[in-house]
Amino acid sequence: MERELKVKPIRNGTVIDHIAGGQALNVLKILGISGTTDASVSVVMNVPSKRLGKKDIVKVEERELGEDEVNKIALIAPSATINIVREYAVVEKFEVDLPCEIMGVVRCQNPSCISNTQEPIKSRMLVKRKNPVLLRCVYCEQPLTERIADYLI
Ligand code: CTP
Repeated sequence: MERELKVKPIRNGTVIDHIAGGQALNVLKILGISGTTDASVSVVMNVPSKRLGKKDIVKVEERELGEDEVNKIALIAPSATINIVREYAVVEKFEVDLPCEIMGVVRCQNPSCISNTQEPIKSRMLVKRKNPVLLRCVYCEQPLTERIADYLI
């Protein structure tokens, strides 16, 4: 058999496809799925892809992720496709698109930024460029463009 099905289709939920190879665990972090979880999640990493060379896939069952929630994924997987699945059929498909501002997702790399002190202030990053991603802290104007996954909260 030429094609091998690594993970079976899901009945209901969300499939995040075309994630850049190796980034699936960061995608889960952005979705708030980490540590102990009740979520039924399948992760496939570094499988061959025509478009990307290698890709990851994340399937979250019994949960339909909203656009606001998934758009943050574009920070680390700008080519990701979101598929909403109901009764085994893909009923909605869209590509992730970064919003103009990201709140509470990425930490500012400036240690003395007010968002990194004990103050109860949520991080706020303006999206200055989408690909490659360039962020700028709303509070101290520090840019962030490389190794964004390392700064995920
Ligand atoms: N999928 C799934 N369970 C289903 C239906 C689809 O897990 N019941 C997954 C598929 O394995 C695929 C993704 O959802 O990873 C998108 O499905 P589909 O649109 O059928 O595939 P393609 O046409 O290959 O998608 P694209 O054009 O976005 O590459």
